[in-house]
Amino acid sequence: MTQHCDVLIKQVKLASMQANGKPYGLIENASVAIKDGKIVGIFTENQRLPTADHNVDGQDQWLLPGFIDCHTHLVYGGSRASEFEQRLLGVSYTDIAKQGGGIRSTVKATRAASQEQLLQSAIARAKRLAAEGVTCIEIKSGYGLDLDTEIKMLKVAKELEQHLDLSVITTYLGAHALPPEFNGKADDYIDFVCNEVMPQIAQQGLASAVDVFCEGIGFSPEQCEKVFVAAQRHGLKIKAHVEQLSDLKGALLAAEFNALSVDHIEYLAEQDVASLKASGTVAVLLPGAFYYLHETKKPPIVALRQHDIPMAVATDLNPGTSPIASILTAMNMASVLFALTPEEALRGATCHAAKALGLQTHKGQIQVGFDADLCLWDIQHPVELVCGINQHRPLKKWYAGRLSTL
Ligand code: NIG
Ligand code: FE
Repeated sequence: MTQHCDVLIKQVKLASMQANGKPYGLIENASVAIKDGKIVGIFTENQRLPTADHNVDGQDQWLLPGFIDCHTHLVYGGSRASEFEQRLLGVSYTDIAKQGGGIRSTVKATRAASQEQLLQSAIARAKRLAAEGVTCIEIKSGYGLDLDTEIKMLKVAKELEQHLDLSVITTYLGAHALPPEFNGKADDYIDFVCNEVMPQIAQQGLASAVDVFCEGIGFSPEQCEKVFVAAQRHGLKIKAHVEQLSDLKGALLAAEFNALSVDHIEYLAEQDVASLKASGTVAVLLPGAFYYLHETKKPPIVALRQHDIPMAVATDLNPGTSPIASILTAMNMASVLFALTPEEALRGATCHAAKALGLQTHKGQIQVGFDADLCLWDIQHPVELVCGINQHRPLKKWYAGRLSTL
């Protein structure tokens, strides 16, 4: 047993998110010992406690894992507020994209932005997430599409770790949209993604996974498959935007490649849900994009539940379909719009979000051996975090065992 630790958080209720048979992984009257950035002990009532450099009286408040936002596009240039206006005047997201707007307009602005400009705007967005208790963020490229800008975006994403108390997981989303220089040559662009950009990104260790936009206004399943094959060759994990606007069977394809996650999935057919089980693929729900696009088709939540597919919840923070820098709002939306229980929403931004990033062995739960990314909340019950909007901020936050300023 640990005799002495760095920090001891005493007398808290843990919503540990462990699978211990209790709602929220509840552990009452608990104390949590931290050493070298890790949770080294969880003690209850009469157990002998280790000594510590810093003792924290938790005053019977709730301690939760730091939140994980497992799907964002938060590094980008420009603004798409005018498209928000256009959509309200009746032009659809698909039509805006076909007219060269949408993702392509952000590509133009991101290519034009300097690394420093991208960094400063990304810091501002990530800070808002961090202020709500987010300690880990996944960030995708995909607004550069050429080699230099994709690399610039991924470097900026990683650099956030130097400025904020959070970890960043980066994903190469080359197959996001067709850049103008490849107009009419989508297959050539996919070859460029697989043979020119991906090898460099893999070699420089700039991303741990690839992602694709499998959609009528994105790329076909055949093109996405080429990206997945190349990813496997380069030892990169696989994630996929699928079934957001139509059912192209992208989720089935992603599951065949043992994807970490399939994301959006409003149009995922119920009969295809079972395929996610064998591959251990997480269903990432993005209610912000559903909300902004006035979508009416909901993801197959009941079938996902029946097949015991882990459901994660993320902001999808991006300038077009989900300009939401708030994981708590995303959780609220997942409950109100998709009828997730508050526990499902909270697990969706902790343990299941960790699994969507392949981090489930050390993030997303309060568990011995896990990273000491923790938040203390002044609430009567964890349901309160999901129930309201803009009602709560953590009282205290620890990142890698260090107390973080809020
Ligand atoms: O997750 N669906 C594709 N990609 C983003 C949207 C990006 C954008 O519109 O800029 C999404 O919703
Ligand atoms: Fe997305």
